[in-house]
Amino acid sequence: MRNPILFSLVLTLAGVAYAGTGKTTATPTFNRDVAPILYQNCSNCHRPGEVAPFALLTYDDAAKRAKQIAAITQARVMPPWKATPGYGEFLDERRLTEQQISTIRDWAMHGAPEGNPKEKPAPPTFTAGWMAGQPDQVIEMTNPYSVPAEGPDQFRCFVVPMNATEDEYVKTVEFRPGNAKIVHHAILFLDSSGEARKKETVPGQGYDCVGGPGLDISGALGGWAPGSEPATARPGIASTIKKGSDLVLQIHYHLDGKPEQDQSRLGLKFSKEPPTKGLTLYVLGNQKIDIPAGDSHYVVKSSGILPMDVEAIAVFPHAHYLAKDMKVDAHLPDGTLVPLIWIQDWDFNWQGAYRYASPVKLPKGTRLEMQYTYDNSAANPHNPSNPPQEVKFGEQTTNEMAFAFVSVTLDSPAQVPEFRAGTRAEFIATMLENGVDEEALGPERAGQLKLLLNAFDKNHNGKIDPEERQAVVDFLIKRAQQQQQHAAEQPHQ
Ligand code: HEC
Repeated sequence: MRNPILFSLVLTLAGVAYAGTGKTTATPTFNRDVAPILYQNCSNCHRPGEVAPFALLTYDDAAKRAKQIAAITQARVMPPWKATPGYGEFLDERRLTEQQISTIRDWAMHGAPEGNPKEKPAPPTFTAGWMAGQPDQVIEMTNPYSVPAEGPDQFRCFVVPMNATEDEYVKTVEFRPGNAKIVHHAILFLDSSGEARKKETVPGQGYDCVGGPGLDISGALGGWAPGSEPATARPGIASTIKKGSDLVLQIHYHLDGKPEQDQSRLGLKFSKEPPTKGLTLYVLGNQKIDIPAGDSHYVVKSSGILPMDVEAIAVFPHAHYLAKDMKVDAHLPDGTLVPLIWIQDWDFNWQGAYRYASPVKLPKGTRLEMQYTYDNSAANPHNPSNPPQEVKFGEQTTNEMAFAFVSVTLDSPAQVPEFRAGTRAEFIATMLENGVDEEALGPERAGQLKLLLNAFDKNHNGKIDPEERQAVVDFLIKRAQQQQQHAAEQPHQ
């Protein structure tokens, strides 16, 4: 080793590595050991004006709660991160290592010493403006919205015109809560039908919406929860905002004991070039939910087959308060199981989109499966009803839902209609495999499906068998293509 500086650096590093792995009896101190962990993993939410109820910046902030911090990090309640490790790899994962957890525990057990002031790291600095840089367009709630000091949480949908005079391609989406003390999470929907505007009876004041905006959305721009980083799409990918669309901003407000106001904003950066890849949502879901009062283990399943090759880029699991365990898997045609997400302690308050660290390739014929388990017993602390009530599918807090929205990309934007038609055809074929459930579907829809069944159920056993399936799918795709062609030939209004 000829370079003396390098030599001593290597020695120092070796020393550090040794101290880290060897059994040291030195008690961790705030300044040397704990502050770096808190600054890195906690302070972005635990600081004045943010959603967490207290700051974790100074020694005093942390020392007076040392035992609570030790317990809550040990239980992995904080930092909030719901995805089971090893079950899907995500961007911006918020998890402490076992080492960090035991450092905090040892520090708390030894009376939470402050340590040498010289070893104290500089407190973190936070971006005051837009984290992703100045946006091309800022979309703000048209009026401030007032919430009272106390009361139940509110779920409100605000309809904001986006004023796009032609289709626009969004690369970066950054949501900024107007009042971080009360904004618990937000989901950004798009509506090109004009239906959302009609629901907002007092313009700018929003309308009540728990489960979703209560309309057929035309798109989505992701979600936000405290600690979320702004999302920038990978090369070739962009969300399209159709000309004339409205933003439907669903916000969950958690009241904080004082009357508050909020006027949240969204910053968008556009791409001049249209995307080269198709971007769409694959929706796995089941509306057949009827959970008996007291049932602590009610399982809802759904599955679907991908009609073409896709890459999954994000997953957004959604249910209300009773869901406990939510698992989404992909079964590839060659038999490989690809885990997409597993949440074992669902908390409605910490929902959002989980973006994959790298796109997950799912070939044509992949079967996506979801299995959600609900606890409608009195022992579930999240149960909104006491005593428990029978719970069915619906939009209200006291209803339930079972969805997994998987954002997928396709080789080209032109494939999106084909993908949607294929998804629908596969969905209908799966229904026919199970026989027509007249009660669940209603007479009109059941009647249509029975006509289809009669045409393709060659062996007349009342359902579609695996060897009859492809003919149904092909027929439905062809019919959808004809309908699209027909629509394209109609003169535009
Ligand atoms: C993404 C934002 C966020 C991050 C990151 C975060 N917290 Fe929290 N924390 C909250 C919120 C919000 C609450 C209030 C309770 C709730 O809404 O779940 C909270 C509550 C707490 C509580 C009180 C819990 C109770 O039962 O009253 C403790 C202690 C705590 N956090 C410690 C930490 C520590 C330690 C870290 C870092 C290792 C951390 N938090 C990281 C948002 C965050």
